[in-house]
Amino acid sequence: MMAMGACLSSFDGNRKEVYKDASAPVKDRVEDLLSRMTLEEKVGQMNQFVGIEHIKANSAVMTEADLKNNTANAFYPGFTYKNVEEWTKEGEIGSFLHVLTLKEANYLQSLAMKSRLQIPILFGIDAIHGNANAPDNTVYPTNINLACSFDTLMAYTIARQTAKEMRAMNMHWTFNPNVEVARDPRWGRVGETYGEDPYLVSLMGVQAVKGYQGKLDSDSDVLACIKHFVGGSEPINGTNGSPADLSERTLREVFFPPFEAGVKAGAMSLMTAHNELNGVPCHSNEWLMEDILRGEWKFPGFVVSDWMDIEHISDLHATAENIKEAFYQSIMAGMDMHMHGIHWNEMVAELVKEGRIPESRIDESVRRILDIKFRLGLFEHPYADEAKTMKVRLCPEHRQTALQAAREGIVLLKNDGVLPLDVAKYKKVLVTGINADDENILGDWSAPEKPENVTTILEGLKMIAPDTQFDFVDQGWDPRNMDPQKVADAASRAKEADLNIVVAGEYMMRFRWTDRTDGEDTDRSDIDLVGLQNELIEKVAASGKPTILVLVNGRPLGVQWAAKHLPAIVEAWAPGMSGGQAVAEILYGKVNPSAKLAVTIPRSVGQIQMIYNHKPSQYFHPYAAGKPSTPLYPFGYGLSYTTYKYDELKLSAQEIGKEGSLDVSVRVTNTGQREGTEIVQLYIRDKFSCVTRPVKELKDFARVPLKAGESKVVNFTITPDKLAFYDIKMKKIVEPGEFIVMVGSSSDDKDLLMKTFTLK
Ligand code: BGC
Repeated sequence: MMAMGACLSSFDGNRKEVYKDASAPVKDRVEDLLSRMTLEEKVGQMNQFVGIEHIKANSAVMTEADLKNNTANAFYPGFTYKNVEEWTKEGEIGSFLHVLTLKEANYLQSLAMKSRLQIPILFGIDAIHGNANAPDNTVYPTNINLACSFDTLMAYTIARQTAKEMRAMNMHWTFNPNVEVARDPRWGRVGETYGEDPYLVSLMGVQAVKGYQGKLDSDSDVLACIKHFVGGSEPINGTNGSPADLSERTLREVFFPPFEAGVKAGAMSLMTAHNELNGVPCHSNEWLMEDILRGEWKFPGFVVSDWMDIEHISDLHATAENIKEAFYQSIMAGMDMHMHGIHWNEMVAELVKEGRIPESRIDESVRRILDIKFRLGLFEHPYADEAKTMKVRLCPEHRQTALQAAREGIVLLKNDGVLPLDVAKYKKVLVTGINADDENILGDWSAPEKPENVTTILEGLKMIAPDTQFDFVDQGWDPRNMDPQKVADAASRAKEADLNIVVAGEYMMRFRWTDRTDGEDTDRSDIDLVGLQNELIEKVAASGKPTILVLVNGRPLGVQWAAKHLPAIVEAWAPGMSGGQAVAEILYGKVNPSAKLAVTIPRSVGQIQMIYNHKPSQYFHPYAAGKPSTPLYPFGYGLSYTTYKYDELKLSAQEIGKEGSLDVSVRVTNTGQREGTEIVQLYIRDKFSCVTRPVKELKDFARVPLKAGESKVVNFTITPDKLAFYDIKMKKIVEPGEFIVMVGSSSDDKDLLMKTFTLK
């Protein structure tokens, strides 16, 4: 080994270092560098570690046993951060994750610059809605809130701004967009998805990929990662990482489209899912990684594992007898990078030396990873400038985007006329509830921010209604441990107020990892409010004063009592750092709400699975004992302070050919007193088909701004690809026959105009 290394370096000495030449084509640079690398350096490029500050913090508080099922925190038993520093200097680590400061990123990079070949580190981070895991970055609303805006340009803008903030702290790779189609509200990760509709998820995901990556050639671009491939958003029992048992039809119709769209949009990395799929762990699933991803979709990028999931092939799924075998299976199935830690370098090198993994297979992965490092300019710019970092992060333009996004993503679920609030009528307002004055509005994947960077809901109310007298009864942050005395206090002080606002929901902040009720690895066996929150709402409402519920959460909540008894409900999701202002602006009518639900809200957990695009037989038999089979609020639903009328639905033809297209137009009129934006939705149903098809599927939508009294004709075009599906032999076809076009303000039949056409 030593002799070979010596021989290699003297040979290198005479050869032009093409890889260091910024003007050489990336392909040549990759090949040149690859030809200089030892096997150890190659497998090192395929490995990732958590940052040294993360290691220091967690080795102090965690035990080895804690590591087993913790997917957010780690250290490396038997090793310290000093070892990790050494391995970096030796060029044996390709990537880090969970590095939260620019100082640490630059420091680790300086160690990599001491290595033989000076291959820069690729820093990855979960910048899910802004680079919010690291403090002092703009925290935008979470993905589910963004999806409810149906504003794809906003998805692009947020991703672009996030990319700039990331590069300003030397981060190069975000583990987003999460393009899973959420089909189970028990699952704690609904809030980081774009909801339940494959089409909407695809469009949002595509714009996020484009926004993050740009052309993937400048120092304001970052690598996007579409995740998690696949099926974890319909877990068999609602819990994260539990098995997914999904037919190929469901995979191809529901779960694959956003991934395929992401690949087509240029996403250059993909993360596999924790779960097994139909009996095969996703991390050793050759069908997924090779046949579908690379074979059918021609994915040119690299695949990264999720957190310790290659190890879990052995220690959880038990389809490999030991970790080394798990590494073998995963690499041979198509895996390129290991998240994260020890054993990989040594065992993978052994597998190559034993002749089990061909070195050419390792080279394929290393090529894909180096390609990205060159394209992102890391060899030329390994560091980010400390002096300039805060010029970009949290800049006024980005904060304004975060505010605007929150205004667009908050859904008005119920309003009997109490909203917008009349300041003259409601002079004294009681505010209470766990989320009234807490940073929890930042949502999952956020770290605590400096208080001056966040506008809580109470602060927002005081800002927007400065003359109103707000009385606040603090209920603490923890819904599981509410104090009955404080509930009683709120109930009695409600009697003194003219109106009450209860800000309830879930707790999502990950710095209190085991105390949350929503978020990653925080799945629930019911979808009701936790703790004394229902009691609080009911007791406050018993004051007889109008009581408004504002929800802050990620998963849909079946707030049946509130929906029946309260005059108004606002679903804010996790609206981000300016979310408090946006909520207050909506409550006081400074902003007219326009968002529509990107996910169905069921009444109770027993109704699950409840999705709008279900198959025709799903509700043939209603639930017994008088329990409704309808959702609490359907997909696509959301109120405004104005009203809209739909009429004049027209199709350009009664019949179209297989190559033809059909124009659809509808007139939408703002029939109310104020300006608003209506999200016009177009659904299609295939009347008869050779296999069962959903009762409706979203195929297009438009955000339409309308002044009071204004009418606009909204046009859509239906092309045959919007009618295609997989036939009985799983071949994608467009089948002749009748189709129903539905256009309107929600997925509920009563909100839709309908017309039929025939495909010849
Ligand atoms: C999550 C991923 C995330 C990774 C790194 C995992 O537990 O499932 O979505 O990117 O951790 O934080």
